[in-house]
Amino acid sequence: MQIQENISLKNYNTFNVDVTAKRFVSITSYSELEALIKQESNFFVLSGGSNILFTKDLNCLVVHINIKGITIVKETDSSIEVKVNAGENWHEFVLWCLQNDYGGLENLSLIPGNVGTSPIQNIGAYGVEVKDRITQVETIEISSGKKVMLLNEECQFGYRNSIFKHQLKGKNIVTAVSFLLTKKNHKLNTSYGAIEAKLSEMGVANPTVQTISEAVVAIRSSKLPDPNKIGNGGSFFKNPIVKQTSLLQLQKKYPDIPHYTISEKEVKIPAGWLIEKAGFKGKKIGDAGVHKNQALVLVNYGNATGSDIYNLACQIQNHIQSQFGILLEMEVNIV
Ligand code: EPU
Repeated sequence: MQIQENISLKNYNTFNVDVTAKRFVSITSYSELEALIKQESNFFVLSGGSNILFTKDLNCLVVHINIKGITIVKETDSSIEVKVNAGENWHEFVLWCLQNDYGGLENLSLIPGNVGTSPIQNIGAYGVEVKDRITQVETIEISSGKKVMLLNEECQFGYRNSIFKHQLKGKNIVTAVSFLLTKKNHKLNTSYGAIEAKLSEMGVANPTVQTISEAVVAIRSSKLPDPNKIGNGGSFFKNPIVKQTSLLQLQKKYPDIPHYTISEKEVKIPAGWLIEKAGFKGKKIGDAGVHKNQALVLVNYGNATGSDIYNLACQIQNHIQSQFGILLEMEVNIV
């Protein structure tokens, strides 16, 4: 374990924002992390950097969680439970599942970031959320240095939400995540309209975990910017959940407003639609912009600072609030 000084974090965040960490260490094992938290008290934990917007230099120690490895916990004829260390790249792990014909995560193909952050924001796409497959999450408690395991039901998972964003924020570090996957009779989820359409366009009548993944990769690649080419953090805002009564009011002015029923009283409205309707889609202010194919994604065209992107996000937030009376919640962590 080697602590470096004055390290640029440009290659450690998918927005490619150039900020400096006063001190930086990459952690490759659980025991290294255990030792580090005994000796250091002021640090910032960084994982895949795919859901974070740095607006300033970090004057503390940045701890990059880079613990790799996949182990089999339990296996039967029909299912397998695997424990995946936090530093594994998410999509590489999904590809490993597909190679082994393990089902359950194919709808979550091509999501940037690492396995360790997947439970924190409960990543979700195309009808599946990672909480549907997680059995437990291994963490280290910073104050005591003890290993603390949380069962799925203890993680308080919700839409892009979990206990790790609230009670355990800054208290526990995720070190590994266990998933229960199917080995046969996969429960395929093609309920999301765009997947069905893509599969039929591909001429696939009997989908498999592999062809579903291919469809998801094709859809994502057509809409979402590749962070290796254009800096971004995926959806910048959450899709807002509003009361049915508010929807009725909005429908008077915007009869075509898309919405998904959440409960008898609540609906979810795509933030991408609101942002597009407000005229921001494709907008650029300097090198900060709103993506041209998916208005929910803010991008860095090159040399935008975190503050440039944050200011654009605030402008969008204010505009949406005054035009629709809806406060968009930022999904990306602002640091
Ligand atoms: N829409 C527009 N204009 C846009 C974008 C979207 O009008 O520019 C409307 C359309 O009506 C479209 C609807 O929004 O039918 C939904 O769009 P899309 O299917 O692209 O999904 P989303 O709600 O914008 C969510 C997730 C994505 C995930 C997709 C697919 C959130 C915050 N985002 O986006 O997750 O990939 O569904 O399941 O829930 C991420 O979290 O980083 C992410 C990319």
